[in-house]
Amino acid sequence: MIALLRRLFGRARPALLDAGPRDAAAIAALHGAAFHRGWSEEEVDALLVERAVMAHRAILSGKFVGFIMSRRAADEAEILSVAVAHACRGRGLARELLQLHLGRLAGTGVRAVFLEVDETNRPALRLYRRAGFREVGRRPNYYAAPGAKPAAALVLRRDLG
Ligand SMILES: CC(C)(COP(=O)(O)OP(=O)(O)OC[C@H]1O[C@@H](n2cnc3c(N)ncnc32)[C@H](O)[C@@H]1OP(=O)(O)O)[C@@H](O)C(=O)NCCC(=O)NCCS
Repeated sequence: MIALLRRLFGRARPALLDAGPRDAAAIAALHGAAFHRGWSEEEVDALLVERAVMAHRAILSGKFVGFIMSRRAADEAEILSVAVAHACRGRGLARELLQLHLGRLAGTGVRAVFLEVDETNRPALRLYRRAGFREVGRRPNYYAAPGAKPAAALVLRRDLG
């Protein structure tokens, strides 16, 4: 199934677009598939109606395949979540979403962006480090997955020029 989806999506270019409350169901579904602790559609909707929250989505061959969401406070912002559909990973979608999002945040006057990431999440760490984020803090035993040793959260920061 994954191989078939990869072939279908293989050559298409993604459309990267603003996301809003009408995308709450798709974001909740993708978030739930990507993380142990999912967000309900209501939780996502409540975030997306906040004026301080910005979100972008990736559409590939008409399918909702990725999103990124942040919340702004004064001239700082926190990336709340980013996820790409399993079948579409490893082809630069998250990198494109993150670059677009950081550019838009900079355009609204944000000077510094923060996020928390599981220290064992290698794809996410590569994504963020490649985009210029650096480690500024560490919260030990922050992520507790069933049956696994608790992992630390790394706090990363990227200054926007
Ligand atoms: C993290 C995630 C968003 C990356 O999405 P993606 O579209 O596959 O990422 P990209 O293709 O843009 O690749 C970004 C970087 O991750 C690397 N990467 C992708 N998949 C990887 C894997 N399985 N193992 C190691 N590195 C990987 C890529 O090589 C790239 O690094 P590079 O530029 O140094 O080569 C995706 O894996 C995902 O949705 N994970 C589940 C949700 C999650 O963990 N979100 C982050 C929470 S903080």
